[in-house]
Amino acid sequence: MALAGQALAQPDLAAQGKAVFEDNCAACHRVSGEGLPPTFPALKGSALVLGQPPPLIDTVLKGRKGLATMPSWQGTLSPPEIAAALTYVRQAWGNQAGPISPQQVEARIR
Ligand code: HEC
Repeated sequence: MALAGQALAQPDLAAQGKAVFEDNCAACHRVSGEGLPPTFPALKGSALVLGQPPPLIDTVLKGRKGLATMPSWQGTLSPPEIAAALTYVRQAWGNQAGPISPQQVEARIR
């Protein structure tokens, strides 16, 4: 799914993020954001999701291995798509944290 990217206003980013999340993340983290703990962590109420953007962005860009493995999303999803999905997960299910911009995601890619 290609997004127009930089031109997206924040409300559009959150709306696009719901679709990105449901297409790419909900298989493991569930549409409810509650995951299937302990294998697939809940994003609802997660301190990492609600915290400072850099560690959250890095987790999704690089992936993570625990009981199960989350793939790296860098190269699979574009920075605007990742920003949209992260803005959505920070504001869905009662989560309350600020949006994440495509520029913040791009800044973590190296
Ligand atoms: C194939 C299953 C799978 C998919 C799809 C998946 N994840 Fe994950 N995710 C995981 C697993 C497994 C972990 C935790 C690994 C561990 O135990 O450390 C994780 C961890 C996370 C965390 C850290 C949560 C915390 O509180 O520590 C975030 C944030 C996250 N995923 C976001 C996403 C986003 C956004 C997407 C979609 C772009 C996504 N995940 C897609 C399996 C998945």
